[in-house]
Amino acid sequence: MSSTPRPLVAGNWKMNGLSASISEIETIAQHYDAGLRAKVELAICPPATLLSRAAPIVAGAEIRLGGQDCHAKANGAHTGDISAEMLADAGAAYVIVGHSERRCDHGESDALVRAKAEAGLRAGLAPIVCVGETRAERDAGRASEIVERQLDGSLPQDVAPERLVVAYEPVWAIGTGLTPTLQDVAQMHAAIRARLVTLFGAGAGATRILYGGSVKPANAGELLRIANVDGALIGGASLTAKDFLAIAEIYR
Ligand code: 13P
Repeated sequence: MSSTPRPLVAGNWKMNGLSASISEIETIAQHYDAGLRAKVELAICPPATLLSRAAPIVAGAEIRLGGQDCHAKANGAHTGDISAEMLADAGAAYVIVGHSERRCDHGESDALVRAKAEAGLRAGLAPIVCVGETRAERDAGRASEIVERQLDGSLPQDVAPERLVVAYEPVWAIGTGLTPTLQDVAQMHAAIRARLVTLFGAGAGATRILYGGSVKPANAGELLRIANVDGALIGGASLTAKDFLAIAEIYR
């Protein structure tokens, strides 16, 4: 690929984190020195309730913040929802859309995920669009077909490739301690890259493709060195500064 983007290590805190957890972000900010900044971009996606608390802490450290979901509309009568504009206003630069926990728990379709990704772009956020197969789909030999269908249906249609992030998160690897083989990750990431090139042309080398699912300090080294793995989306191990930084340090 013509351009190799700076990798991105993003933490998805999911429904975890109270005021006390802000100290983890402070620790991450303190350790994210110029040497590491040159090698890897860091993003933290805390619950929306903590975004404005985290914003002044990360501003000086050049750590980005992200939301975990957004509504497709900018505002209106949608009780309990949060718009991409609100996330941006609270200090976010990214928004995760289409996480499997939203696709499964909230029945989100590819079309809705695309609308949310486009809402993120409208608000000036870079969408992190999640895709990934279930265990049954992989066992049936359908993993590539499922992921390709999700990409075709969920990615925003008009986007500069460098503003887009794709996260490959096999559903069965999330929170289980299981990961695909390195060969399976390599194959899937190569297939995603090829699909991005078909959809967006040669510039698709600038889209970062993250791997997510049970990434820990112990396995991050081998996962992050795979071709076309441009970083990681981390759940459980992102909740402590120690583990999150240990993963980021792989890139130093
Ligand atoms: P775990 O790292 O806890 O497996 O979660 C991955 C994930 O879902 C990140 O979005």
